[in-house]
Amino acid sequence: MARYGLIADIHGNREALAAALAALDERGAERIVCLGDIVGYNADPDECVALVRKRCSVSIAGNHELIGLGRLDFKRCSNKAEYALRRTRRTLGKEAAEFLRNLPNTHVLEPGVVLVHGGVRDVQQYMANPAHIIENARFLAADFPGARVCFFGHSHEQKVYEVTAAGAQEVAIDGQVPLRKENTYFINPGSVDASRKKRHKLAECALFDSAFNTVQFLRVRYDAAATEAKAAAFGYRIDPLTDRLYTLRRRIGARF
Ligand SMILES: [Fe+2]
Ligand SMILES: [Fe+2]
Repeated sequence: MARYGLIADIHGNREALAAALAALDERGAERIVCLGDIVGYNADPDECVALVRKRCSVSIAGNHELIGLGRLDFKRCSNKAEYALRRTRRTLGKEAAEFLRNLPNTHVLEPGVVLVHGGVRDVQQYMANPAHIIENARFLAADFPGARVCFFGHSHEQKVYEVTAAGAQEVAIDGQVPLRKENTYFINPGSVDASRKKRHKLAECALFDSAFNTVQFLRVRYDAAATEAKAAAFGYRIDPLTDRLYTLRRRIGARF
């Protein structure tokens, strides 16, 4: 049992990652756990991989790792993601690639506590509503018997879903959120990278205390303007013409 710091969807955003780690350290996180998508979208993939390697006791692979390494194709990506991932493929260092290649797709953190990136069986699934949660609660029970907490990322939103006999419902995420032993929970700590967020530019993360069965959500300020300027300067932002070209290419199913 421990007080865990949970991070996900860093997406090459070094400034946001440093801010999230500092906030978790300040609040007494004993072990940091990463739910994948360390790379993609922003200009510092190698630096983020190095920091995750140094600071996280566990990390799993996200779809951006798998696409960046060429293990998944671009079919289920947005144009923005594909463009940045093509750039990531060209720049990712050997050492970082080696680390990412060895990440597991799922991990059991403690008995009954499971880490996944997207869905329980599909790394690219967005678990974004109660119907998705009910489907994945079935997968969780079948693949990880006895699991009662599933941490996930990918959908980039801080969420707690509680699964009871009556179904799945969202729970308010203010303050310390208690996790009851008789229910199953699906919990997303949010995304460290806020470059694609419209509502705010804050790094999101969470604390999970497995002794007290509570989760607490954090939102932390970072230098979002610096991240954005670097991403634009180093070729991680798609231009309107290339965006249209990618859309056309998807429509006709061409490989260029
Ligand atoms: Fe992501
Ligand atoms: Fe993802």
